[in-house]
Amino acid sequence: MVAEDIKARLLQLGLNPKDLDPILHQHPQYQLQLHENKLSVFFNESKKKLQYYVFVDFNSAKMQYRSQAHINAEKLVKAVIGKNKTSLKVLDATAGFGKDCYLLALAGCEVNACESNLLMFALLKDGFLRANIKAINLTHDDSQTVIDEGEYDVIYLDPMYPQSGKSAKNNKDMTFLQDIVGHQPEMAEILLEKSLKSKIRKIVVKRPVKSEFVLGKKPTSQIISKAVRFDIYAKS
Ligand SMILES: C[S@@+](CC[C@H](N)C(=O)[O-])C[C@H]1O[C@@H](n2cnc3c(N)ncnc32)[C@H](O)[C@@H]1O
Repeated sequence: MVAEDIKARLLQLGLNPKDLDPILHQHPQYQLQLHENKLSVFFNESKKKLQYYVFVDFNSAKMQYRSQAHINAEKLVKAVIGKNKTSLKVLDATAGFGKDCYLLALAGCEVNACESNLLMFALLKDGFLRANIKAINLTHDDSQTVIDEGEYDVIYLDPMYPQSGKSAKNNKDMTFLQDIVGHQPEMAEILLEKSLKSKIRKIVVKRPVKSEFVLGKKPTSQIISKAVRFDIYAKS
């Protein structure tokens, strides 16, 4: 059962608390809590006796560092904006924890962000509310239905992929996301195929650096960093 203070926060976010019941029942290891005023998912790792809170925090030291001096050096920003001087309209079709769309908005893009998982959407919307972020238009939607609807310069896709090795163990946010959303191996293909068929002229896909091309389709260009790469599909 969701406590009264959490219910009040969900209502403030425009959400019906009852809508979260199915997802919370399905994953009883995760509890919704208000932790230091942040809507959070609490879980513990019984073997190690460790407790974790998953929440969205744009004021974390890491996000502050990434968002201040280094914004134009971000490979994401280089991949999506390139040499463009005008403000681009971007659809972030896989919003997740909102880090990428936040950086794109800071870099001057007009961003519509779409998240299909209601629990993830609730955490993200709460993060936007606390950080007073109004520049990103966030919707709870399946982007499959959104891609064809808007006028965008770029569609940005960061679909789920299996985490491996050390990063999987250490990244509790991603463990949580893998649990509640799953690997969705087919979603990358569905979203890229739809995007390529749409009238949008540029699509950027974030992938683990050593992974196959989505749909086996070679990108027009790439921006590569140590762990991830951005595959860019530009239509001529
Ligand atoms: C790897 S995460 C994205 C992380 C994000 N780029 C960030 O900066 O935090 C992928 C997210 O896409 C969402 N997603 C997957 N398929 C989707 C769809 N069809 N429509 C909207 N969101 C989707 C998942 O629920 C998950 O939260």
